[in-house]
Amino acid sequence: MPQLLEIKGLCKWYENDKDQYEVLKRIDFSVNKGSFVTIMGKSGSGKTTLLNTIGLLDNFNDGTYKFKDQDVTQLNEEDRSIFRNRNIGFIFQQFHLIDSLNVAQNIELPLLYHGGYSRNERIDMVKQSLRDVSLENKFNSYPSELSGGQQQRVSIARALVTKADLILADEPTGALDWKTGSQIIDLLYDLNKLDKTIIMVTHDGDLRKYATNCFYLKEGIFCEEDNL
Ligand SMILES: Nc1ncnc2c1ncn2[C@@H]1O[C@H](COP(=O)(O)OP(=O)(O)OP(=O)(O)O)[C@@H](O)[C@H]1O
Ligand SMILES: [Mg+2]
Repeated sequence: MPQLLEIKGLCKWYENDKDQYEVLKRIDFSVNKGSFVTIMGKSGSGKTTLLNTIGLLDNFNDGTYKFKDQDVTQLNEEDRSIFRNRNIGFIFQQFHLIDSLNVAQNIELPLLYHGGYSRNERIDMVKQSLRDVSLENKFNSYPSELSGGQQQRVSIARALVTKADLILADEPTGALDWKTGSQIIDLLYDLNKLDKTIIMVTHDGDLRKYATNCFYLKEGIFCEEDNL
């Protein structure tokens, strides 16, 4: 499978007047197109920081990052946002839907941000994404009228609507009961079969069976599972 992204020697630290705190320490990380990658590790090991860095939500201090052969460190702030919008969809533990917007409007947001689509095109794309997550009948509903699992499916539809190749999921089942969580994982697995690349942070060791690659993060460094 061709490579989608390649990170080398990634370092990230936080600093204040007195100290420097290194969260990611020379991480090497490559992902091929079509992979289903899981990242596990204890609380505070740097999983979210790594995912946010991969998703260009966070900057890093040292290292290289190529996405589809483009050196993303060369992008300015505005181009990074455009690049992120076109290439990467996000799913969060707490869904991050906007309560004052209905389901269709929530899913439409990345398309408005993307620009260039007519209203009819946007509606068609929103409907298609809702079909992908089997929620066609919730087009006009508000997030507060949906169950947790349905809200997560809406957030997956929002991640899909721009046709981004890469989906980043930070503990997407963390706020759901076991059964609803497994339905979300099944959905992500189906999307992976349709060629979406998925990188998922999870605490659930059982999800290894879905993964093409498993990474274990300990204090900002990848390690073997046994040393976690
Ligand atoms: N903005 C920040 N300023 C300073 N330190 C931070 C900041 N964000 C995160 N950290 C620190 O970086 C470390 C890694 O945080 P991160 O959120 O990536 O952990 P995590 O592995 O996702 O944990 P969890 O499983 O609890 O979500 C933690 O020690 C955290 O306190
Ligand atoms: Mg986290």
